[in-house]
Amino acid sequence: MEKLFRSSQRLLNQSSSSIFPHRSNPNFEHLKHISGSSYVYGDICNAYIKPYFECETRNLQAYHPLKDYVGMFRAKTCRIQYKHFGSTATTVQRDPSFSILSSDDIDYFVEILGEKNVFQDEDKLSTANMDWMRKYKGSSKLLLQPRCTEEVSQILKYCNSRRLAVVPQGGNTGLVGGSVPVFDEVIVNIGCMNNIISFDKVSGILVCEAGCILENLDSFLINQGFLMPLDLGAKGSCQIGGNVSTNAGGLRFVRYGSLHGNVLGIEAVLADGSVIDMLGTLRKDNTGYDLKHLFIGSEGSLGIVTKVSILTPLKLSSINLAFLACNDYLSCQKLLLEARRKLGEILSAFEFLDHESMGMVLTHLEGIRNPLPSSMYNFYVLIETTGSDESYDKEKLEAFLLRSMEGGLISDGVVAQDINQASSFWRIREGITEALMKAGAVYKYDLSLPVEKMYNLVEEMRLRLGLSAKVLGYGHLGDANLHLNVSTLQYDDSILAQIEPFVYEWTSKHRGSISAEHGLGLMKANEIYYTKSPETVRLMVSIKKLLDPNGILNPYKVLPHSPLP
Ligand code: FAD
Ligand code: MLT
Ligand code: ZN
Repeated sequence: MEKLFRSSQRLLNQSSSSIFPHRSNPNFEHLKHISGSSYVYGDICNAYIKPYFECETRNLQAYHPLKDYVGMFRAKTCRIQYKHFGSTATTVQRDPSFSILSSDDIDYFVEILGEKNVFQDEDKLSTANMDWMRKYKGSSKLLLQPRCTEEVSQILKYCNSRRLAVVPQGGNTGLVGGSVPVFDEVIVNIGCMNNIISFDKVSGILVCEAGCILENLDSFLINQGFLMPLDLGAKGSCQIGGNVSTNAGGLRFVRYGSLHGNVLGIEAVLADGSVIDMLGTLRKDNTGYDLKHLFIGSEGSLGIVTKVSILTPLKLSSINLAFLACNDYLSCQKLLLEARRKLGEILSAFEFLDHESMGMVLTHLEGIRNPLPSSMYNFYVLIETTGSDESYDKEKLEAFLLRSMEGGLISDGVVAQDINQASSFWRIREGITEALMKAGAVYKYDLSLPVEKMYNLVEEMRLRLGLSAKVLGYGHLGDANLHLNVSTLQYDDSILAQIEPFVYEWTSKHRGSISAEHGLGLMKANEIYYTKSPETVRLMVSIKKLLDPNGILNPYKVLPHSPLP
C-alpha cells in the first residue's frame, strides 16, 4: 500500500498538461540495411510442398477449409519459388500467362515516362525488390515512377494489353510481403505523385495525391490546426496510398476509427487503365454502391490508388501521455474498461506491451530509457488523452490514475512532463518492430481477438515453444488488436511448424481475424479461409475478375492461390 501511495504521488507530481503534437520519428531508411534475418530464395524447379499441404484428408476441420483443395497445388511443378522464412505454404508458381518483359516494353515506358522515371539499375531495384522485414524478395527488372494519373493509366493499359504483371508499391513498409514482387512483376511506385491538392479549413477535408508520405501530411495539417486521423510507427516512410490500400490502423484508431470512416473519396486506376473518379469530398452520399470501399484495404489487387480525400480532425491543444505498469493482464483489461468509462471522449490511445517486448526494446535499441526503472513489470500500458481544456483534462486523467492506483490496477507509472518525454515513451512502443528486426528472425502475427482471450494465445505459444524462442505480445489493446511476435536468432522450419497453423486455428476458433490491420499480402493469401467464409472469398474472386480480368495487379497476393471451386 505504501508503495502504491508513493507511486501515485509520483504520478500526480509528474502530471502535466504539456502539449506534444509530434511523436518520435524513427528514421526508417537505415533499417533497410539491418542484417540478421536469413532467407532462401530462388526459382526452384522441383515443387517444395510442405507436409501441411500433403494432407490428403477430406475430413476438414471446421475452421480450415483450405485443406480441401490442396491437391491442386501438387500438380504444379515448374518454376516454384520456395521461401522458408515467412509463413508456411509460401510456395508459389509463376503464372505462365504473364509475359516476360522485353526491350520493346522498356522503350514504350521510356517514351511515356521519360528516361529518368524508368529504373533498371541494380541499386534501386534491389531495394524495391526487398520488403521492410527482409523476408520477401522478388526479381523485378523494372521500376516505374509515374508523375500523374494519366501516366499511371497509360502504364496499366499497356501492361494489361501485354499481360505484364504489376506490383503497386508505396513506402514499402508493409509487413506481409504485399508490396514487393514475387517474381518479375513490374514495380509501379507513385512516390513522385506527392502533391497536396486542397485543404478546406472549415470542413477539415484534405485532398492529396496518393504518394504523399503520411508524416508530411500530418506536419502540413498540424500547421493548419488539424492532424491526420491515423498515426503509425512507419509514418516517416509510408504513403497515404499505401495506408488506404492496407486500411492501416495504428495508434489513433481507438479515437478516430478506421479509414473506411475517414476516407471520403478515392481516385483509382483499374488494370485496363480506366480512371475511376470517386474523389468525393462529401460526408454523406448515398447514391448507389460506395465503391471506394473496395479499394480501401484491397492491397493493390484491384487498382492503383492515385488520389485520396480524407476527413481530418482538429488538433486539440491538451495532450497527456501516461506510461503505466500493470502486474497482470487482467489489470490491463480492467484498466481499459475504466479508461473508457472515466476518460470517455478524451481517450486517444490505449496501447500495451508485455515484459518481453520491453526487454526487446531495452536490449536492442540505443538511447532508450526505461521510464519505470525501479523494477521490470509484467505489462506496460500507454494511455494518451487529447482534449481541448487543459485543466479539465488534467483533472480527469489524474482522478482516473489515482483511482486505478488505489484499486490496484496500476502498479507504477509516470505522466510525461513535456514533448520530449512523451516522444521517448512512444519510442518504446513504436520501436518494438525495429528492435525485433535487430534481434534476428521474426515470425509476425497481427490478430483481432476478444480482449479477454487475447493474451492466452501469447502464453500458450510460450508453452509450445519453450526456450527455443522469445514470444512477445504487444499492440493496440483499445482496438482488441494483438501483435504476437516470435523472435529467434534465425529462421527455422521446425519453429515455424510449431507456430503455424496453430496460431491461425486458435484465432479462428475464437472467432478472431488473422489480419487485424497489416493485410494478407503474400504471407497470408492462402490463410484467408481462417477468417472469411468460402462464399465471401468466392465473391471477392468474382470482383477481382471483374475489375482485373487478366489478374495483372499484385498477383499471388490477398486471394488464395487456388480458390475453392
Ligand atoms: P507498401 O508497403 O508499399 O504497400 C502495402 C500494400 O499496399 C501492398 O500490397 C501494395 O501493393 C499496396 N499499395 C501501396 N500503394 C498503393 C497504391 N497507391 N495503390 C494501390 N495499392 C498500393 N500498419 C498498421 O496498420 N498499423 C501500424 O501501427 C503499423 N505500424 C508499423 C510500424 C512499422 C515500424 C512498420 C515497418 C510498419 C507498420 N505498419 C503498420 C505496416 C505498414 O506501415 C502499413 O501497412 C502501411 O499502410 C503501408 O504503407 P506503404 O506506403 O509503405 O505501403
Ligand atoms: C505496431 O503496432 O507496432 C505495428 O503494427 C507493427 C508491428 O506489428 O510490429
Ligand atoms: Zn499495429
